[in-house]
Amino acid sequence: MSLTGKHILLGISGGIAAYKTPMLVRLLRQAGAEVQIVMTHSAAEFVTPLTLAAVAGVAPRGDMFDLQAEAAMGHIELGRWADAVLIAPATAHTLAQLANGFAGDLLSTLCLATRAPVFVAPAMNQAMWDAAPVQANVRLLLEHGRRLLGPSSGEQACGDVGPGRMMEPDLLVRALSDHFSAGSHALLAGRRITITAGPTREAIDPVRFISNHSSGKQGYAMAEAARSLGAEVTLITGPTALSAPTGVSVVAVDSAEQMLGASLGAIEGCDVFIGVAAVADYRPAVVHQQKIKRHQEGLAVISLLQNPDIIATVARDARRPKLVVGFAAETNNAIQNARDKRVRKGLDAIIVNDVSAPGIGFNSDNNAATLITAHSEIAFPAQAKASLARALLLELVRMIDSGLAPTNP
Ligand code: PMT
Repeated sequence: MSLTGKHILLGISGGIAAYKTPMLVRLLRQAGAEVQIVMTHSAAEFVTPLTLAAVAGVAPRGDMFDLQAEAAMGHIELGRWADAVLIAPATAHTLAQLANGFAGDLLSTLCLATRAPVFVAPAMNQAMWDAAPVQANVRLLLEHGRRLLGPSSGEQACGDVGPGRMMEPDLLVRALSDHFSAGSHALLAGRRITITAGPTREAIDPVRFISNHSSGKQGYAMAEAARSLGAEVTLITGPTALSAPTGVSVVAVDSAEQMLGASLGAIEGCDVFIGVAAVADYRPAVVHQQKIKRHQEGLAVISLLQNPDIIATVARDARRPKLVVGFAAETNNAIQNARDKRVRKGLDAIIVNDVSAPGIGFNSDNNAATLITAHSEIAFPAQAKASLARALLLELVRMIDSGLAPTNP
């Protein structure tokens, strides 16, 4: 983890998790960062400015109208100084201020004034985190390009258990370090990644087919994110209305059988295979050469055959990529079904999205997912598919770097 020479502006708002910020400052400095601190008035109820000054080596700022502090470095200058702003903990009130563009105190003003990326680490009671206005503000923040770190799930200071704990300081520092290393050098340089995307179409006759609602957006976002991290990407795509991402080799297919052929053709020398495609599980047993005529009476019956399982075939192949990752579209009992699916298909990881939840999944611009491996389960909250793709790939990079062996028990 390195933040050598990076200017990190740490914003602290008034939640109990603020007691962890002296440790966070120490870790940031140990990673090589220069740290300036801006705290809200209520933050000072949970952690003293003196403690923070001692660990940061510089006095925290709190007041926008502090003449002396403004004379040393004005708030606009402070915004320009920052390479990244990290707000930890971010209370529900602070999220609301940021989401709605208020500039009522030094911290919120700075966030409007800076061009640096703003990372937000929410911390609050689990019921507050679930509250509709908080979730609406989180969606707004993500739309505005703010980056969300956490929250984590677990036991809370109030005794509740659930999502809302501030991400631990070491994970926050790691996320910042990943951000800078991803920007400055290509984490996936030299890696070959094959990604399937979109739906498949299973012909019934020359004018009709069986398919599903996949738009390809999530798969294309994964391809773009992998490309931007330096990977050599092959995108095997079913029919979509999307433009081909630049710098990516695109193989267009229609049916599951074609997608299987293209996938097996692409796995030689491939490091990572990610199946985002919504592959039709069945195809008509007979494809009529002429358009089926409407019957006068009765039902037209189409017999179906099971399609090959593309990702399971890839995972069993002798040329198996080091990492084989599936997506799971679930509508109920999502996590357990996905855990079973990962094992059944012989995958290293599976990324499950609940496609029955409103505003995410099929054809939406946003998605939320949980990345499941044999060792861990990490939840990613609802956000733009592009930002989810990048977050998922950074996690996969971590798995590759830590030498994760294929885990198909
Ligand atoms: O395309 P979008 O509109 O952006 O929507 C994104 C998405 C919802 C399609 C995507 O996020 C997603 O969930 N993709 C997987 C959809 C799916 O088919 O899930 P599944 O649970 O049926 O399949 C599990 C895994 O097996 C997937 O990796 C799938 O590609 C693979 N599979 C499934 C069937 C099959 N015959 N062969 C396969 O390889």
